[in-house]
Amino acid sequence: MNPINAPTKPAAALYLPIKSLGPQHRERICAHLLALDEGDRYLRFGYPAGDVQIRRYVDSMNLARDDVFGIFNRKLELLAMAHLAYAVSPDCSHCAEFGVSVSSHARGRGYGARLFERATMHARNEGVDMMFIHALSENTAMLNIARKAGARLVRDGSETEAFLQLPPANFDTVISELVQEQVAQTDYHLKRQAHAFRRMLAVMQEIRRGVREVKDNAPA
Ligand SMILES: CC(C)(COP(=O)(O)OP(=O)(O)OC[C@H]1O[C@@H](n2cnc3c(N)ncnc32)[C@H](O)[C@@H]1OP(=O)(O)O)[C@@H](O)C(=O)NCCC(=O)NCCS
Repeated sequence: MNPINAPTKPAAALYLPIKSLGPQHRERICAHLLALDEGDRYLRFGYPAGDVQIRRYVDSMNLARDDVFGIFNRKLELLAMAHLAYAVSPDCSHCAEFGVSVSSHARGRGYGARLFERATMHARNEGVDMMFIHALSENTAMLNIARKAGARLVRDGSETEAFLQLPPANFDTVISELVQEQVAQTDYHLKRQAHAFRRMLAVMQEIRRGVREVKDNAPA
């Protein structure tokens, strides 16, 4: 069976909330990409993108047309993100390009592979039938993810294109995506509330400390 046709794994999928991101997440996307070191920027963009180029890339992301997925920690830092960019040329209207990055301290936990699965499912639901990934040939982790999903790898020296033929959406992909998105929304909402609560506690502690200092320093 083509790996992409394998039934979705609801239990594993629900375990790791992956949220779709919108324009309101632009700053977090930017912070995540700026935190990549030179080597990772080279792997992600195909050249050692500087801060200015990364900011320009994030500003130019068409978040109304393209889809971006992210994994947040409890501090609401974006640990991993995937960008699914839809082709604009009419002769490739059912194609999309996949790009991904995982913060260095969060690698090897399966986030890259899970984002790929999530993007693949979404692409199928959007009617995409060909997903491609442009990677450096040295990028074993990325090429492993693509190969495992059944992509055809075409190596051209230091660069490799991976082409993944996607089957049409089905009932399973549509329902799985709805459920996963709902779980991710709820998870994000709870994390936001907890984050706001922790910030409020920190402010109150700061105020209490200030009051105590004033009292301690007051003349007897
Ligand atoms: C590529 C990248 C996204 C992988 O993320 P990740 O979360 O660490 O990957 P996963 O944990 O999901 O692992 C995916 C597969 O790659 C393998 N892998 C992970 N890191 C690897 C490494 N350094 N060398 C070789 N294989 C590796 C894993 O074993 C796994 O294969 P398996 O399923 O056969 O076990 C991450 O390394 C990254 O952000 N790199 C910088 C940006 C980049 O290269 N983007 C891709 C170009 S678009």
